Amino acid sequence: MSTTTRVWVNGDLVDPTGPAVSALDHSVTVGDGVFETAKIAAGQPFALTRHHRRLERSAAGLGLPPLDLAIVDKGVAAVLDGPAIGFGRLRYSVTGGIGPLGSDRHDASLTYIVVPAPQALPPVSGKLTVLPWTRNERSDGVGLKTTSYAENVVALARAKEQGAIEAVFGNTRGELCECTGSNVFVVVDGVVLTPPAESGPLLGITRELTIEWGRAAGIEIREAALPLEVLGSADEVFITSSTKDVLPIHAVDDRTLPSDRPVTTELQHIFRSNAERDCDP
Ligand SMILES: Cc1ncc(COP(=O)(O)O)c(C=O)c1O
Repeated sequence: MSTTTRVWVNGDLVDPTGPAVSALDHSVTVGDGVFETAKIAAGQPFALTRHHRRLERSAAGLGLPPLDLAIVDKGVAAVLDGPAIGFGRLRYSVTGGIGPLGSDRHDASLTYIVVPAPQALPPVSGKLTVLPWTRNERSDGVGLKTTSYAENVVALARAKEQGAIEAVFGNTRGELCECTGSNVFVVVDGVVLTPPAESGPLLGITRELTIEWGRAAGIEIREAALPLEVLGSADEVFITSSTKDVLPIHAVDDRTLPSDRPVTTELQHIFRSNAERDCDP
């Protein structure tokens, strides 16, 4: 990462490569923290109110004390007060703070971290690879965006090895679940389908907006438990995430999908025009 990146920790801009978080911070030792990644477009963070709400839900799910979002907002203002980032991500985390080396907690004050980073625009489409590992839809962390992301790190590395942009998990029941950092949608006979919360995905902000805006435009979109095998027969497949918006999938492992994807293309347009109209929908 470039050393010019602004890094803000607990009230101060700090040296991006210097020490700023304790070696005893519970997110360092056991991944005890929550985070958000919001898109930055033309210098503006996107959908921050929805990201803040999800951060609060994730923290409550981990049993962390109530967050002070005004602190996060100060950090966001501090890191974005500089040359505008044309396209990138705003990552903010709140961790359990100084803790014991094991999984129990001290009554510590939380650590707040905010970091923006420019990044390349996503490609026009990508390949998806199906993982041999499962997401546990009954785990205590299901639906929470926590800093325990090692499974996703391993899975995304596998995707990259296979020339894929993302890797998709099934759950323990063999249902389609989600990708390492994206939600997954399929189009079957003109109907858009995506796994429901019960199948175990993180409920993405982009997923939520795609459903809301797509339905408002008259597209039939349903949340439905789907067999993982649907990826072998769906007419169209796309993924959604904060930095990818609606991204078409052109291949799932060895299966090449038709390049004509009318529903995905329409949803891409709907998403883009709504997002351009309102940066905090
Ligand atoms: C596991 C996982 N699923 C889905 C998503 C997509 O969520 P969002 O649209 O809020 O970026 C993410 C975001 O990074 C994620 O980490």
